[in-house]
Formats: sequence, C-alpha cells, structure tokens
Amino acid sequence: MVKRQKIYEGKAKVLYRGTEPFTFIQHFKDDVTAFNAEKKDTYEGKGVLNNIFSEFFMKGLSEIGINNHLIRRINMREQLVMACEIIPLEVVVRNISTGSISKRLGIKEGHVFSRPILEFYYKDDKLNDPLVNEDHILEFEWATVQELEEISSIAFRVNDFLSGLFFGAEIVLVDFKLEFGRPLDKSNSKVILADEISPDSCRLWDKKNNKRLDKDVFRLDIGNISEAYEEVAQRFNLLPKRVSVQNNKMKNNIFSLE
Ligand code: TMP
Ligand code: ASP
Repeated sequence: MVKRQKIYEGKAKVLYRGTEPFTFIQHFKDDVTAFNAEKKDTYEGKGVLNNIFSEFFMKGLSEIGINNHLIRRINMREQLVMACEIIPLEVVVRNISTGSISKRLGIKEGHVFSRPILEFYYKDDKLNDPLVNEDHILEFEWATVQELEEISSIAFRVNDFLSGLFFGAEIVLVDFKLEFGRPLDKSNSKVILADEISPDSCRLWDKKNNKRLDKDVFRLDIGNISEAYEEVAQRFNLLPKRVSVQNNKMKNNIFSLE
C-alpha cells in the first residue's frame, strides 16, 4: 500500500494529501480531548460517528447553498474534502448561555439570548485559544474585512439551519464552533466552511429534559459519551446497521465499527 502524506494532525482528526488535485482526506480519530488536551481519552467508534455526522450536516448545508469543504465521504472514518488553508479562528455562535461565556461573564447557565451571539477565538493552543475581536483579526491579518463579513453571515445562516434541523429531532442547539478555510484551488476564491460539525463541536441539549448529548458529557464527566452520540445519531436515523459478535453473543455495537 502506498504510504499517504500526512498534512496535519490535530487532536481529533488527521489530514492527508488527497487522491485528486486540490483535495485532502480528513480522517476522524477516536480520540477525545478537553481543556486544551489536559483531559483525554479514546472511545471506540467515535470517529466513525463524527464522520457520518459531519457528512450529514455539511450535505444539508450544501443543499441550502452554503459552500463547504465536503466532496464526499469515502469510508467509515474518512471523507474527501477541498484542500484549504485554515483561517486561524474558532467561530462560535451561542443561542443559550453555558460554558465559557457563563464562566467569564457570570451569566446564568440556560439563559436564552435575545439574539445569537457571535464570538471569535484565535486558534493557538499555546495561547489557549483566546477570545479576540474584529479589530484584532484585522490588525493581525488573520482574515480580511470581506472574509470576516462572509464568515459572520455564513455562521448565522448555519445557526438558523442547524437550529431547525435539531429542533425537528427534539434537540436544542445551545452553541457551536465553526472553522473556515481559503480553498487552495484559486478558481474558488471565497472562504468556505471547513473542519467538522458534530457533537464534538456543538452543545446539544435534549428538549425534554436538558440532558447533555454532546462532548460536555466527557468534559464534565456526566455520563457515557458513546451513548450520548448514539442518541443523536439515532434521532437522525444515521446509525449504520452492522452487527458484531462479542462474547459469543450477537450484539449491535456501532462503537466497534471500523
Ligand atoms: P465554550 O463555551 O467552551 O467557549 O465552547 C463554545 C462552543 O465551541 C461549544 O459548542 C464547544 C465548542 N468548542 C469546540 O468545538 N472546540 C473547543 O476547543 C472549544 C473550547 C469549544
Ligand atoms: N477541543 C479542545 C481541546 O482539547 C477542548 C474542547 O473542545 O473543550 O483542546
């Protein structure tokens, strides 16, 4: 087998050079980290599920005209994506207060904002991804005025689309993080949505009882992350049907899928 060229390895994903010009292969690992990787673990099959989630959400966004890096899923753990230079910003949209905004500003957890709040964090692990504003972004040339306008407009459209989609599955989209890139293929000049959309990058609360169905289950040690992600997948009918044999018993086990 030809050894693939690794372009970049992050905490939960690896990017390889793609099989077609201007493409990367995005590989989803089973690793999960929190607090800038101070806390880490591995959950068998998490990468499989996030690959399927991200494909599902990105496809839906393409259907409403939001350009993103997904070309197609190529196997259980990998997808072919448009090669991009990632803009070094984590773009967060918040509908309900929790997490770092509640901590930083003392806002009661569960407070519903009158309109969505958009935040930017500078993507730099050494600095712990600090919160930044538009002046910082322009001054340090992390993005241009046009790119920032495009990013902000896409982020709110993604929020509208995903909020509706999750609502239909009886899930509240509390907040989420997006990343954007500049396609290396310069015939496609605008910024596009990149990275992933999955329960790793969103906060999802069960509409009935506010049960956490996202990575907070791991961050806060409040349950079983595999069960939470499977629950979300089930609501969208995304669980691949496969049966594995364990302890001589036939058992449905998505988390042992390769
Ligand atoms: P925060 O409340 O911790 O700032 O997180 C806001 C949203 O961003 C939440 O949906 C989780 C997501 N997020 C990431 O995807 N990656 C990160 O490194 C962090 C800190 C948050
Ligand atoms: N992905 C982050 C990390 O471990 C943290 C988080 O998602 O909370 O760096």
